[in-house]
Amino acid sequence: MTSTTPQPATFKPSGPLGGKISVPGDKSISHRALIFSALAVGKSRITGLLEGEDVLATADALRSMGAKIEKKDDVWTVHGVGVGGLMQPANAIELGNSGTSTRLLMGLIASHPISATFTGDASLSKRPMGRVIEPLSQMGADITARETADQQSCLPLTVRGLCPAIPIEYRLPVASAQVKSAILLAGLNTPGITRIIEPVMTRDHSETMLKGFGADISVETDTDGSRIISLTGEAELQPQKIKVPGDPSSAAFPVVAALIVPGSDIIIENVGINPTRAGLFEVLQNMGGDISFKKKRVVGGEPVADLHVKHSQLSGIDVPADVAPSMIDEFPILFVAAAAANGETTTCGLHELRVKESDRLSQMAKGLSDLGVELTEKDDGLVIQGSGGKLLSGGRAKPVIETALDHRIAMSFAIAGLMTKSGLSIDDIRPVETSFPGFDALVKSLTDS
Ligand code: S3P
Repeated sequence: MTSTTPQPATFKPSGPLGGKISVPGDKSISHRALIFSALAVGKSRITGLLEGEDVLATADALRSMGAKIEKKDDVWTVHGVGVGGLMQPANAIELGNSGTSTRLLMGLIASHPISATFTGDASLSKRPMGRVIEPLSQMGADITARETADQQSCLPLTVRGLCPAIPIEYRLPVASAQVKSAILLAGLNTPGITRIIEPVMTRDHSETMLKGFGADISVETDTDGSRIISLTGEAELQPQKIKVPGDPSSAAFPVVAALIVPGSDIIIENVGINPTRAGLFEVLQNMGGDISFKKKRVVGGEPVADLHVKHSQLSGIDVPADVAPSMIDEFPILFVAAAAANGETTTCGLHELRVKESDRLSQMAKGLSDLGVELTEKDDGLVIQGSGGKLLSGGRAKPVIETALDHRIAMSFAIAGLMTKSGLSIDDIRPVETSFPGFDALVKSLTDS
């Protein structure tokens, strides 16, 4: 973050939203585009890359390990060093707020003959890393982390890679694309076959992109429905031209804004709609949201569409637990939509939300309660009584919402501000830069139209 002091921001009630916009590139695909390109032999070109702080942290880390990464006009060029070709970084790698950078780069280093120390901000330093330490240690990496009082392994931590590493077969105990991708990255420079069993499908960008880069990777489905992902190591990756689609997790904010503000009618161009990411759109449609997918197409192996969204009076629903992996980052903004709906919305199976950039169940419960929303916080979800479209107010004239260094909490309450009686403030807008540079200006362009 450029500024070292929190930067409060105010969001006011709004008239109808209108216009045609696009959102920044997909964060998950951007991290992977840089990392896989850094491992290819030769020059890859990336357009549409998200230039948020999280992705820039990944780029800096890769540069510190020998990849040459430059930007000219809208094109990022990565000169890869080849699988196995990473060099020892001279200093500790600072990853700010980015859990994806941390977990993916831990996997990358685990099978290289180098070591690296990772540090991060207060939010990242609280996040559990045991879930990646466990499989990477089985592959032979030596990882030492700070142990917390509640026995979590957290940053700062040091990974000492083993080369050649040991191929493993690993059944994912948590539904996590970051853990899956960390193991795949370690497997790329490991002799033999690394196999991951994924009982609950998570975002599949790593599998799709690795295939595109020429890796020998296959996915089968077991009799119990688990996915079995097999990767042949000591891969040679071919450089690629990559077009990163708009991030559905960022599009989620203007989508909900248009649904909840009467009279709104907007188009969001070029949004990724990979089914492993698009759960929110389906849930909102089931709540009565008028969202249509126009000009569906496939770009670089990823399904993309333009979204047309019109204001709709939403109705509360029971959101099934099995939809969670396909919208894991979208629950904060879904809770805002639920607060505007008619009737009750229930969510469950969301323990993972407690270990994201903040404890998202508790931060959202606190903030929405401050706005006068009736809700119950359960161990694994929220039950929200919607206002039926009435403007929110809470006790105070203009509540100040605590965002706990969490970009998605900040953006969710910015959108909630549009349906308040007299506006709200959030305590710190800076974290939004991690995933959605230009968010504030984009919301203003829609509300001023
Ligand atoms: C991500 C996976 C998800 C998601 C995160 C990005 C990825 O995390 O919450 O924002 O790019 O792989 P988990 O793997 O912890 O579910």
